[in-house]
Amino acid sequence: STSQSDTLRTPIVAVLGHVDHGKTSLLDKVRGSAVSDGEAGAITQHIGATAVPLETVSQMAGALVNPDDFDLPGLLFIDTPGHHSFSTLRSRGGALADIAILVVDVNDGFQPQTEEAIDILKRTGTPFIVAANKVDTTPGWNPQQGEPIQKSLEKQSKRAKSKLDESLYQLIGELSDKGFSSDFYWRVQNFQKNIGVVPVSALTGEGIPDLLGVLMGLSQRYMKDEMAIDVAGPGYGTVLEVKEERGFGATLDVVLYDGTIHAGDTIVVGGANEPIVTEVRALLQPRPNAEIRTEKRFDKVDEVRAAAGVKIAAPDLEGAMAGAPVRVVGDRDVDEVIREVEAELADIEVTTEEEGVVVKADTLGSLEAMANALQEAEVPILRAEVGDIAPRDVAVASTAREPEHKVILGFNVDVLSNAEDELDKNDVKLFEDDVIYQLIDEYEEFVDEMKR
Ligand code: GTP
Ligand code: MG
Repeated sequence: STSQSDTLRTPIVAVLGHVDHGKTSLLDKVRGSAVSDGEAGAITQHIGATAVPLETVSQMAGALVNPDDFDLPGLLFIDTPGHHSFSTLRSRGGALADIAILVVDVNDGFQPQTEEAIDILKRTGTPFIVAANKVDTTPGWNPQQGEPIQKSLEKQSKRAKSKLDESLYQLIGELSDKGFSSDFYWRVQNFQKNIGVVPVSALTGEGIPDLLGVLMGLSQRYMKDEMAIDVAGPGYGTVLEVKEERGFGATLDVVLYDGTIHAGDTIVVGGANEPIVTEVRALLQPRPNAEIRTEKRFDKVDEVRAAAGVKIAAPDLEGAMAGAPVRVVGDRDVDEVIREVEAELADIEVTTEEEGVVVKADTLGSLEAMANALQEAEVPILRAEVGDIAPRDVAVASTAREPEHKVILGFNVDVLSNAEDELDKNDVKLFEDDVIYQLIDEYEEFVDEMKR
């Protein structure tokens, strides 16, 4: 029999926020893992994906999520890095999401990457809720492991409660400064008009039932139409990472956001030079509640349905690009699908002009982010490409008419040694940084100086 959950797509939930505000810890609490403890430098440096089945959601949420009320199969959580260098991955996570959790440390309030995350959610029109995290650090807090937040609040002293209220109202004020009206989630009637703020602790689990309840309710109520797509159709996905795996060579970590992919399917993947057409040799699925990033034991499966994280092994994937589309050809004409992938890549392509600066970045996502930031700063772009800085880029930059445009802006890329000599010879100035807004600031300072 086909129950409704076989035909509804799993909603994609992105977790966004400033570094150390507790995104990975929150997910660890939900999935019962300790990914955060094992992270190098104690920060997240990749996008992750974890499929949490409805069963787990309702176990965690207790009375707040009755599985009989829902026909969504569960939630696919996308973890993102909060560290400032990873704005590309934040925007990629934000763009993939149906809904998002903005995690804010109640003590720390709004920080630069909180603001950046809000801008991404605004730009992509993604509905979100705010997890006001680390409530357990409120002075005098009386922890109530895993309890719904209102139950926990009843057990707090007047002083602790008013201390927490103070932080929460400040948060609500900061959201208002950003143009969002918000309130404690239990006072919100219409979650499309008002942002719900859920006080939580990733450490004690307080408020996690509420967070999951609000997420499930929102997904079911407002997004069911979007979820009721034909998941049996050909798969659509986005490459999170291209990774070497022993025995498989280059593999793709993919978020499948629509349709189904089968072992043996012909797929088209966006590549650095041209689309790659190849055949799926193996589909490797992380177990339920496992983070694809850290998972060691993948189950080899015959098919995967959206939304899900999946590792795809296939020949010829070396040239695949992080951020590029993956499409299953199915019974369509392969040339048609190649054209679709090319068109999607062209959409990501940056509009260039006759006069402007040269931009190089490490991935499609970061190139796009650079272009957005430059557009805001009203800096025209002559050429924008993914890849290291080569002599050819210097030659192009040297053709700019205005001295302030004889410039290369490099984000997270290397300078090829033969390009370095060319820079001096051609009087082209190079700006490099691994933080987008700093790179743009440096360039703007240079222009100001020049015009003085
Ligand atoms: P990035 O991925 O690097 O952006 O950080 P993150 O947002 O994923 O933060 P992470 O989950 O790694 O947590 C950062 C630190 O805060 C860790 O030391 C956690 O143990 C701690 N932490 C997270 N949530 C809570 C909480 O609710 N209460 C307390 N007391 N500590 C927390
Ligand atoms: Mg993290």
